[in-house]
Amino acid sequence: MGCSKVFSFILVLLIEYTLVNGSTPKNTIPITWCIKAKRSLVQHYIVYMGDQSHPNSESVIRANHEISLGEAKAEALHHYSKSFRGFSAMLTPEQANQLQEHESVVSVFESKLNRLHTTHSWDFLGLNSAYTGSHVALDWASDVIVGVVDSGVWPESESFRDYGLGPVPERFKGECVTGDNFTLANCNKKIIGARFYSKGFEADVGPLEDVVNRQYFRSPRDSDGHGSHTASTIAGSIVANASLLGIGRGTARGGAANARLAIYKACWFGYCSDADILSAMDDAIHDGVDILSLSFGPSPPQPIYFEDAVSVGAFHAFQNGILVSASAGNSIFPATACNVAPWILTVAASTLDRQFRSDIHLGNSKVLKGLSLNPIKMDNWHALIYASAAAAPGVPATNASFCKNNTLDRSLIKDKIVICTIEKVTENRRLKAMVIKEGGGVGMILIDHNARDVGFEFVIPATLIGQDALEDLQSYINTERNPIARIYPTRTVLDTKPAPEVAAFSSMGPNVVTPDIIKAKCIQLQPDITAPGVNILAAWSPVATEDTVEQRSLDYNIISGTSMSCPHISAVAAIIKSHYPSWSPASIMSAIMTTSTVMDNTGRVIGRDPNDTKTTPFDYGSGHVNPLASLNPGLVYDFNTQDVVKFLCSNGASAAQLKNLTTGGECEKDPNPTASYNFNYPSIGVSKLNGSLSVYRTVTFYGKEATVYYASIENPEGVNVTVTPSELRFMKEGEKASFRVDLKALKKSNGNFVFGGITWKNGIQRVRTPIGLNVISTSYY
Ligand SMILES: *[C@@H]1O[C@H](CO)[C@@H](O)[C@H](O)[C@H]1NC(C)=O
Ligand SMILES: *[C@@H]1O[C@H](CO)[C@@H](O)[C@H](O)[C@H]1NC(C)=O
Ligand SMILES: *[C@@H]1O[C@H](CO)[C@@H](O)[C@H](O)[C@H]1NC(C)=O
Ligand SMILES: *[C@@H]1O[C@H](CO)[C@@H](O)[C@H](O)[C@H]1NC(C)=O
Ligand SMILES: *[C@@H]1O[C@H](CO)[C@@H](O)[C@H](O)[C@H]1NC(C)=O
Ligand SMILES: *[C@@H]1O[C@H](CO)[C@@H](O)[C@H](O)[C@H]1NC(C)=O
Ligand SMILES: *[C@@H]1O[C@H](CO)[C@@H](O)[C@H](O)[C@H]1NC(C)=O
Ligand SMILES: *[C@@H]1O[C@H](CO)[C@@H](O)[C@H](O)[C@H]1NC(C)=O
Repeated sequence: MGCSKVFSFILVLLIEYTLVNGSTPKNTIPITWCIKAKRSLVQHYIVYMGDQSHPNSESVIRANHEISLGEAKAEALHHYSKSFRGFSAMLTPEQANQLQEHESVVSVFESKLNRLHTTHSWDFLGLNSAYTGSHVALDWASDVIVGVVDSGVWPESESFRDYGLGPVPERFKGECVTGDNFTLANCNKKIIGARFYSKGFEADVGPLEDVVNRQYFRSPRDSDGHGSHTASTIAGSIVANASLLGIGRGTARGGAANARLAIYKACWFGYCSDADILSAMDDAIHDGVDILSLSFGPSPPQPIYFEDAVSVGAFHAFQNGILVSASAGNSIFPATACNVAPWILTVAASTLDRQFRSDIHLGNSKVLKGLSLNPIKMDNWHALIYASAAAAPGVPATNASFCKNNTLDRSLIKDKIVICTIEKVTENRRLKAMVIKEGGGVGMILIDHNARDVGFEFVIPATLIGQDALEDLQSYINTERNPIARIYPTRTVLDTKPAPEVAAFSSMGPNVVTPDIIKAKCIQLQPDITAPGVNILAAWSPVATEDTVEQRSLDYNIISGTSMSCPHISAVAAIIKSHYPSWSPASIMSAIMTTSTVMDNTGRVIGRDPNDTKTTPFDYGSGHVNPLASLNPGLVYDFNTQDVVKFLCSNGASAAQLKNLTTGGECEKDPNPTASYNFNYPSIGVSKLNGSLSVYRTVTFYGKEATVYYASIENPEGVNVTVTPSELRFMKEGEKASFRVDLKALKKSNGNFVFGGITWKNGIQRVRTPIGLNVISTSYY
């Protein structure tokens, strides 16, 4: 297989392929196929030395150099010197072990690669529809700085114009680092900083120069599209008449259109090295960002917090008052959510009330519903043929039905619309259309019920159909001697129901890290929140043409993934931060979570795409984000770094594990330790409820006038929940009140979780906390 294909294969993968194969091979990603074999005895390690305690960066770097690496002196690739201490270097396992023994070294771990959480060529959302009516609120946020760790930025995009913005906030200490096709003039009052990191990637994979047939810029410039897309979703300026070749036309804007962007390019060709990410986070914390947006994560299973670079970096951000919002991943299956540490806001993806219809007009005048991003007009009628009826000589019909390369008979598909099926949910759908085009076919109908809501782009007119349309199609073909059809170009349909639905690909909880690895009684109901992540229109890199319609150069593109939902939450966080500059990251998380909704636009609980199946908080966390309500949450569940450390201690974290996060974090020998389930998180999760349990929470009031909140309870099935006191009175802003939640199990839940919630209501606000319990025994026999 040629190298270019390897990369297109990676880029159009829908889902973490490693998961589907059932294992997570370390450093065996296909990208290495295209790189000169360079891995030998040495590997790239991160040497982590804890909190920053040196007076300045230079003294850290000097101190780093003083650590002897034994005989072979290794060259440090990255120095982490600003927000935490350490370095990364190519080391042999023996050297790594030796370093581990050094007294100033906290831990030594291998730098691994993370995946960008894009599921390529999926659907869209109009950001405006998500934020209808919130124009006043959106005019805020001009001094909030959002750090985006991603694949860089295309600075000429209209989305990054700085029209109307004031001077760069003085407190910002970042830089505009220049490089390939990126000069100081590429930063402005919107893109106030831009840096890039490639040493980790190059150490792990190989030099960028060796990546074949892929354009790249050794600079913050984005050749991938992903980084421009996420950054413009967060804080893109208002751009009228934006569309993907006419599809989804409308005004494009970031959620926090006046916020500033600090760009940290640490991802290359869809992969981001731990070592580069840590370096980016070290800089971002020091530069003074308010929010960090991370649309990538490790392939499942999620590593334990103490061993995961993203969790460690995010902990330092949290400690410095920075909210980290991160994507939950696109791995479909239960217990695959990543970025689940309680100091990270973990974001799932959901659909909008909008569909991109590319319908099929049959010869009998019937119109079948199809979905895709298809701007191409088909001028004539064309004959229909099942791919299974067009098998190349020697290929079984079933094999041909998947429309893979070299399985179809060219003479049979020429000038026809070919009907293909899906073999695996992770398949490259785009490739099928390429195969048909190469064989002289003119269109494709793909029977793909499960992924049809996700907008794909193809090289020929193509559309995805579900079960309903399939039946009509089959009966037409069965009764017609010369069946013909036309595929219509995409039209946008609004107000579709039900919406939102959790996206088919969005990774699910529970958070397997906390309960299983540190034997906790308490869990968080991760993901924390869901936001639009299906068919999002945002800025694109015009040189990223690999997966676009007819490989055309685009300024705006429509893609899907939890990569796309995370920036929506980062934007909402930026707006909240501008209203409440002193709020802690936990307060912002709480405001977003407690004001979300679990209802769709039909008044029922949000379902999961494609079949609107039943969901739980393990699909959507607290619910679907409600940006306007989150600006006025009324009550807030706050917690700080000490609370997190206590939580980890009560969950059984060892001193050595804690040291990986924070040097000062010894577990105190507290005779009355705070139980882990009393960690003041805005959701309540108990992984083993033995009979009955009392859980405590504290809320802080934010409101101008005295008010009373009343508790309203949804009992999980078989559990009686009572709240004491059931009324909370507040006189003035900043007051705190604590309450007790008594959980009494009447019925075992047989290994499953049962769900409910507590909502504090005062007639204006609704402050909801979801409850998830696994009942192992009852309190009555
Ligand atoms: C990058 O800069 C080089 C040298 O100036 C130029 O030839 C090339 O066209 C530029 N590439 C892009 C995509 O702008
Ligand atoms: C929007 O852009 C299209 C071309 O992409 C152009 O034909 C159309 O006139 C524009 N509409 C407005 C209102 O500017
Ligand atoms: C600290 O992190 C490293 C790197 O992942 C890991 O190998 C080590 O086991 C961790 N230490 C503890 C005590 O968890
Ligand atoms: C058809 O597909 C099956 C299953 O994937 C495979 O084992 C077989 O080799 C294929 N046959 C041909 C002729 O491609
Ligand atoms: C199909 O395979 C042929 C060689 O057999 C190759 O030239 C062509 O590029 C492939 N097409 C696609 C879409 O992969
Ligand atoms: C949804 O329903 C269709 C048609 O009944 C079925 O083929 C498909 O497998 C279902 N998908 C899921 C994820 O349940
Ligand atoms: C549950 O509680 C009972 C009574 O307090 C105790 O005997 C039992 O061991 C507990 N079970 C578990 C699994 O902790
Ligand atoms: C729940 O417990 C409270 C207090 O113990 C009791 O008054 C109430 O009747 C119980 N509700 C149910 C449904 O058992």
